[in-house]
Amino acid sequence: MPQTFPSPHKIKAERVAGFGTTVFTVWSQLAREHQAINLGQGFPDFAPPAFVMVGLKNQLDGYQQYSFLAGMPTLREALAEQYQRDWGRAVDPATEVTVTVGATEGIYATIQALIDPGDEVVLMEPFYDSYPASVTMAGGVCRYVPLRPDDEGSWYLDMDEFRSVVSPNTRMLVLNTPNNPTGKCFTREELQAIADVCIENDVLVLADEVYDHLLFDGREHCSIATLDGMWERTITLSSVGKTFSVTGWKIGWAITSPALTDALQMGLQWVRFSVATPLQLASAEAIQASATNGYYDELTASYQGKRDFLVDALKAAGLRPLIPEGTYFVIADTSDWGFENDESFCRHLVTEVGVVAIPPSHFYSPEHRHLAHHLARFAFCKKDEVLEEAASRLRNAR
Ligand SMILES: Cc1ncc(COP(=O)(O)O)c(C=O)c1O
Repeated sequence: MPQTFPSPHKIKAERVAGFGTTVFTVWSQLAREHQAINLGQGFPDFAPPAFVMVGLKNQLDGYQQYSFLAGMPTLREALAEQYQRDWGRAVDPATEVTVTVGATEGIYATIQALIDPGDEVVLMEPFYDSYPASVTMAGGVCRYVPLRPDDEGSWYLDMDEFRSVVSPNTRMLVLNTPNNPTGKCFTREELQAIADVCIENDVLVLADEVYDHLLFDGREHCSIATLDGMWERTITLSSVGKTFSVTGWKIGWAITSPALTDALQMGLQWVRFSVATPLQLASAEAIQASATNGYYDELTASYQGKRDFLVDALKAAGLRPLIPEGTYFVIADTSDWGFENDESFCRHLVTEVGVVAIPPSHFYSPEHRHLAHHLARFAFCKKDEVLEEAASRLRNAR
């Protein structure tokens, strides 16, 4: 027998061998197979705003060569101005801003830069699924603490449970607010309680704030980096994807102290050195324009309408939505439909109803997976007519 090389069981390195295909790839494929409405993966199905596309066209004839490791100065300056306005503290575009390939690379690179093998990283469940993967690739150890819905359907972090997973080995907490998939927006008071534990235990915070412009009912986003004693230990990540409906651009950033910026850039220089130049410049234009053109208010109003519509549609279909405070996702309690678990409910939905939702147990550790058994995540970053068709299919399915 001729020997195959490399032998199949040696192809994957240990750090990736345990990974399966992401839940989004699997359910988007099922959506295509069943011609179902895809309320699974969180990408807008509508065009970005016109001023954003004008900015992109402006850059197509412009500079096309390598950018700097930290990112194009114009984008770093636009970001520094925006954060200075929002945070009321100066941000240095030269030493405190790093442009990344979406927030996803920011998450990966931050964890690779700061986590040594054996270091513990606390993740709240349900989590965005790139967090545990990035920790695993760094050789770190995930410690999990679930967010739980209270009797009114608002998600909260039990502080005793949180304290119980923090130990002398804890190096980092990953905090996502507004939170995917729960839609929770942590209040200043909640963040202060979390910050106190982090300071007391010398824990770094990776603050994933990609939905920082998507809050409803007049809520204001609060960044944990702005609390006393937190700037030095927080890496704040965001990106243009959700805010400007350009998830394919993959332009993100990390805002943090010069020391942590330096650590982050040490690794990044060997990963991709720099990020797509015209897209950085177009992102800078979009961010600068949005400081004065009222876009952020329009965005929130439009998404609030979509949220309210989908929440009502889910209720009409006999599901119990937990009202999201931000993001473009809603989690619904599916118990009344009588399925055994989230996987069987979502499978029924795609094959028999023609709507895709994501089974959230993928966003929990094995020991807490049961908490998701009667939940499903629906995305409402879709055209009104698509949401209307999904609503009609769900209503008729009951
Ligand atoms: C919580 C969270 N973080 C990060 C990302 C990835 O952001 P980007 O597309 O900028 O890489 C997503 C995308 O869905 C997300 O939901």
